[in-house]
Amino acid sequence: MYKVIIDCDTGIDDSIALLYALKREDVQIMAITAGFGNCSAQQSAQNSLKMIELAKVKYHIPVYIGSEKTYSGTKPTYATNVHGTNGIGDVELPLSKQQPETEKADDAIIRIIHENPHEIILITLGRMTNLAYALDKDKEIVNLTKKLVFMGGTILAAGNVGAFSEANIAGDALAAQKVLTAGFNSYQVGLDITQSTHLDRTHLNYLSANAKEENKEIASYINQAMVQYFHFNHQASEMIECCPVHDPLAVLIALEPQLADVTYRPCQVETAPGLTYGMIVADSRVNHFDAPLCGLCLKCDSEAAVNKLISIFCN
Ligand code: BDR
Ligand code: CA
Repeated sequence: MYKVIIDCDTGIDDSIALLYALKREDVQIMAITAGFGNCSAQQSAQNSLKMIELAKVKYHIPVYIGSEKTYSGTKPTYATNVHGTNGIGDVELPLSKQQPETEKADDAIIRIIHENPHEIILITLGRMTNLAYALDKDKEIVNLTKKLVFMGGTILAAGNVGAFSEANIAGDALAAQKVLTAGFNSYQVGLDITQSTHLDRTHLNYLSANAKEENKEIASYINQAMVQYFHFNHQASEMIECCPVHDPLAVLIALEPQLADVTYRPCQVETAPGLTYGMIVADSRVNHFDAPLCGLCLKCDSEAAVNKLISIFCN
């Protein structure tokens, strides 16, 4: 059984990543910790609770609300143009009866890692804000965490919020710098592979036609949310009836590492203002700078990954 904590800013792709993890019978989600990004942390928590309900999971998954403020001190912004005003493509799902927990997200991360030493796979799908605050309180979590897999950044591909920068890293660059230099056993799943892994109309049609009875509502939700996501990706990248697979790919690779080829490099994040703000700087020199190694997933089997993603919901 994989024990995971998922920290997310539950937007459209986060929600699909959550649904995938919720449906994996070999995964126990120990906590969902909500951050701001695609929407507020409060909204992200509500969206996550709705996904738990939609997935009809048979065990309790606590949801914790994280910081509404960046670690960097910059003003948080929400990606409503990408994910709609409610974060999930303005799809209206019934409010969950489950409430968020009162414990703060960073405290929950620390506690759960200590209660399960060397067992937790930590997956971040948004800004690294909650994890940076957790590190301020307790550095021991670095060595007690089995591995950290994060969706964020780009090494060789174009950025999506700047020429070299990606939304999750640039959205709180100081938090990312803190986490990347902390010494976790860490793996980056960035735009190098997520932007070229696609979910398209054919996949959605397959999902609608083949979803298990218990997953029909999931298939319907994904189809509805994709209206906004396809629209945004058409405008931003001229993609036609198609979108990149960001956050679900990070969850897939966290659980199925053989899907990706990993290159290890010492990495830091640029936190100084300017054109490269929020860029992950991976040092390939022999005499490289002094920073912990990060596993960079620079290639992946996109077709296998998307098939695994869709087939979890199907007969
Ligand atoms: C990342 O930014 C968010 O909009 C997505 O949820 C994903 O985590 C992609 O850059
Ligand atoms: Ca996200």
